[in-house]
Amino acid sequence: MTTFKVAIAGFGGVGRATASLLLARRARYRDVYGADVRLVAVCGSRSGAVSAEGLEEANLAALADGLSGPAFIEESGADILIEAGPSDFRTGGPGLAYLQTSLSAGRDTIVISKGALVHSGRELRSLAEGSGAILKLSGAAAAALPTIDLMQHSLKGCEVLEVEGILNATTNYLLDAMTTRGIGFDEALREAQRGGFAEADPRNDTEGWDTACKLLLIANFGLGADLAMDDLAVEGIQSVTTERIETWRGQGLVPKLVGRLWRESGAIRAAVGIRTYLPDNPFANIRGKDKAIRIVTDAMGETLAIGSGKEPLATAGAALKDLEHILVAKAG
Ligand SMILES: NC(=O)c1ccc[n+]([C@@H]2O[C@H](COP(=O)([O-])OP(=O)(O)OC[C@H]3O[C@@H](n4cnc5c(N)ncnc54)[C@H](OP(=O)(O)O)[C@@H]3O)[C@@H](O)[C@H]2O)c1
Repeated sequence: MTTFKVAIAGFGGVGRATASLLLARRARYRDVYGADVRLVAVCGSRSGAVSAEGLEEANLAALADGLSGPAFIEESGADILIEAGPSDFRTGGPGLAYLQTSLSAGRDTIVISKGALVHSGRELRSLAEGSGAILKLSGAAAAALPTIDLMQHSLKGCEVLEVEGILNATTNYLLDAMTTRGIGFDEALREAQRGGFAEADPRNDTEGWDTACKLLLIANFGLGADLAMDDLAVEGIQSVTTERIETWRGQGLVPKLVGRLWRESGAIRAAVGIRTYLPDNPFANIRGKDKAIRIVTDAMGETLAIGSGKEPLATAGAALKDLEHILVAKAG
């Protein structure tokens, strides 16, 4: 039995869901991989918990002040870091320091927040390459919807020619509500905010930035591109009026906020914007908070996946799928 010590930095809704799911799956890790997976540390911005023997659910209710930060994770002796702090693609956010420290030290790292990967992806990739650490990011790259995994596992060996994705649940919910129920943007947004899946400040979603972040991660980490946010044309849905929706409806078209990657003159190009689909197109039928990706490859044609997991469990599941890939890699 090999022991794997896991730490979680960022202990909000997603970090806590990840901890609970990990603890619940310990028997599976033992049975399937011969791995004794221990949760040795968790932390929020100011407080945390640590135990070399492994934390239990009861230890996670009350965190102790002062136990936080990259040095705290170092000192916990963790072999694997799961980073689930706030995302800020303009600065890298608090996750950046955790990831730099962890990857420099050769610690296998599972990233759930997008910010640092978008801001400093090239540096983090090269830190991982230099130290031999495994860097996984399913939780950051659309979570409940498999994206990079599809390319790296299910479509392995194929050249990806084109990617199209409905990658943001909130904007899909808003456009769907406006299209199918005829309500205005503001009303749909209030509904989403009451439902707890749109932020009080929704601009990161509605202006297309969240979709752009995920698209950029798919391009850079899934396809080996080296795009920065400035390379993307980004359009959101904040100016979509009921009149525009009515015009599309009259034309038999369904609008979606979509991120697209394509190859042009040997380079990968990316854009985020509204596209419209005929009703029989699968993308026209991605409803509510669901997401979808269409990948076109040279040898395996067109692949379509739809993700409809409930948060935060779905993101926890995506992060722990990454953990199992690491367990498999370590066993080999
Ligand atoms: N929610 C989802 O469905 C979803 C889906 C996919 C990806 N994500 C990503 O997952 C991440 C977490 O989301 P969430 O919903 O769990 O957010 P959240 O509830 O706001 O939790 C964020 C956590 O990060 C902690 N934090 C802030 N600064 C920190 C620092 N310097 N060191 C350590 N921890 C720090 C906060 O600590 P305090 O409690 O002390 O403030 C809090 O525990 C975000 O990046 C989000 O974009 C979320």
